[in-house]
Amino acid sequence: MSIAVLGSINMDLVAEVKRLPAVGETVQAVRMESYPGGKGANQAVAAARLGSTVRMFGKVGDDDTGDLLLERLRSEGVEESCVTRQARCTTGRACIWVGEQGENAIVFGPGANAGVDAGYVDAVLPQLEHARLVLLQLEVPISAVKRVLRRLPRPGPTVILDPAPAVPLEELHLARVDILTPNQGELATLTGKRDQGVAAKQMLDQGVGCVICKNGAEGCRMFSNEGAFGVPPFRVDAVDTTAAGDAFNGALAAALLLGLELPEAMRWGNAAGALTATRRGAQPSLPRRDELNTVLDGSRWVDARIYCDDAGYPDGTGNTVSR
Ligand code: RIB
Repeated sequence: MSIAVLGSINMDLVAEVKRLPAVGETVQAVRMESYPGGKGANQAVAAARLGSTVRMFGKVGDDDTGDLLLERLRSEGVEESCVTRQARCTTGRACIWVGEQGENAIVFGPGANAGVDAGYVDAVLPQLEHARLVLLQLEVPISAVKRVLRRLPRPGPTVILDPAPAVPLEELHLARVDILTPNQGELATLTGKRDQGVAAKQMLDQGVGCVICKNGAEGCRMFSNEGAFGVPPFRVDAVDTTAAGDAFNGALAAALLLGLELPEAMRWGNAAGALTATRRGAQPSLPRRDELNTVLDGSRWVDARIYCDDAGYPDGTGNTVSR
């Protein structure tokens, strides 16, 4: 059994800046790089690097960037034969600004991702049905996500929906979502409520099975109709938080595929997100299983600090220190 990810595949252009520019302002980047990204592809690679069998579903353009991103998926062991090329279309792109604290702002241009339509969903649905978990995000048209949720049988795969970027979810069949994974900003945007418990209750009332709110440096919290609990963070010096949320979802899914209980799966998510934030870029920053194990084993429900070298990579000395 495997994980199926239906979602976006992008090339990211990342500008590191001392501070994010204000409206009308020009700032000079400290560094500019391109990295493979896209919330869907990031989640697929995150799960694959942790040992899961992963199939990617989505679209790239008929350009060189599409070739390159497909090759990157293959090299990560992600099965990509169902990703199709959108004719006369560019591959999805994202412009990302990363500030000195690792905070970011993203502008996403869907390109070929916008071609994930009803016909595509219908064509791949039999394969989605055979997965153990289906991971969705909102960088493909919401009409496609709506169709998947309407058509996936129950009993069937566990569905994890990452509502990013946050757009109104009313038209979705939320009763088919087992786990909704907003970050705190997205949960507030979706509900208009600042209090997480109140906001999560609103989503539960709309039918989702449970809400896991990703609180970044504060860890994460799970809310269901049976109760709520939090899982504490692994503390790191963040260099670039891009894809930290995607790493969380990929790791959560990988852990659930292995049969781990939800609190432990959330702990995997926290660890993967923390490690990802210590490195630059989206897919290059996603951790492998041995790195994750180091963090998980090094700190049983306590904080860990990962020290990084100047390039933002762990310095290879095993400096994962429990506090
Ligand atoms: O979640 C991070 C991703 O969001 C980036 O890789 C970028 O492609 C954007 O879509």
